[in-house]
Amino acid sequence: MTRVLILHGPNLNRLGKREPAIYGSETLDEINQRLKKIGDQLTFSVVTKQSNFEGELITEIHEAEGNFDYIVCNPGAYTHTSYAIRDAIASVEVPVIEVHLSNIHAREEFRKQSVTAPVCVGQISGFGSYSYDLALRAIRELI
Ligand code: DQA
Repeated sequence: MTRVLILHGPNLNRLGKREPAIYGSETLDEINQRLKKIGDQLTFSVVTKQSNFEGELITEIHEAEGNFDYIVCNPGAYTHTSYAIRDAIASVEVPVIEVHLSNIHAREEFRKQSVTAPVCVGQISGFGSYSYDLALRAIRELI
């Protein structure tokens, strides 16, 4: 069975309440439940985690090695700033798919650069919470 870790970064625990015009009205729990169902359909085991702490996200990425086949990661604002998360992704054999709810290329200048995307398999951005669904479908195709 394909093992997928879905890793949500800072402020994504606020989904549903946080800037709904940009991020939608679904809560993180609702999104995670749907992703687990899609995982069942695709015969993936899906584990979801969220952290507001850079170091915790880094440790999750390290510990994914040997325990997961793929990581779907939304690093939140760390996307634009964290060389440490980028290096963590580069340090593991596990392929990572970067995901964003909003289209980061259509927003403020500072969001247009992702320091993490160059070490990921690819980036899915701008499809709301459906960006995560697409990442699972992409994994289905990659296997
Ligand atoms: C985000 C985009 C980031 O720029 C922002 O800091 C987030 C969410 C997204 O999913 O659209 O926290 O990663």
